[in-house]
Amino acid sequence: MHHYDLLQKYLSNLAVLNIKMHNIHWNVVGKQFIAVHEFTEGIYDKLFEQLDEVAELLKMKGVMPLSTVAEYLENSSIEEIKAKDFAIEESLEIVKKDLEAMKELATTIRNAADEEGDFETVAMFEDFVAEYSKNIWFVDAMLK
Ligand SMILES: [Fe+2]
Repeated sequence: MHHYDLLQKYLSNLAVLNIKMHNIHWNVVGKQFIAVHEFTEGIYDKLFEQLDEVAELLKMKGVMPLSTVAEYLENSSIEEIKAKDFAIEESLEIVKKDLEAMKELATTIRNAADEEGDFETVAMFEDFVAEYSKNIWFVDAMLK
C-alpha cells in the first residue's frame, strides 16, 4: 500500500477515534472519573489537531483527503463501541489498545514515507509517535 493510502486510513482512524474518545470522556464512571475524563479530553483535542494536519499534508502532496464521515467509517480500522457506563479500568484498557494501534500505524507510515524520501511526512509522524508513547506511558501508570 502506498503511504498516501496509509495516510487516508490514518486520517479515517483519527476521525473515528475522536468520537470514540468523546464516548469514554462522557460515559466513564468511577472514583477516578475526573482523571479519565480530563485525560481523554487531552487525547481527542490532539487527535482533532492531527486530523487537520494530516488532511493538509495530503493537500500539499496533491492528494484529496477523504472528507466525509461515511468514507472515514469505511476506511478506519478503529472499532466503535456503543455508549454505556465505562468503568475506570475498562476505559483505560480501551484507550491503551487504540493508542497502541495508532502508534503502530503511525510508525508504519513514518517508515514507508522514509523509503519514498518524503521527509515532511517522516517529520510529522515522528512527532505523532512520540506523543503516543507519552500517552501510553500515562495510561500504563494509571493502570498500575
Ligand atoms: Fe467535555
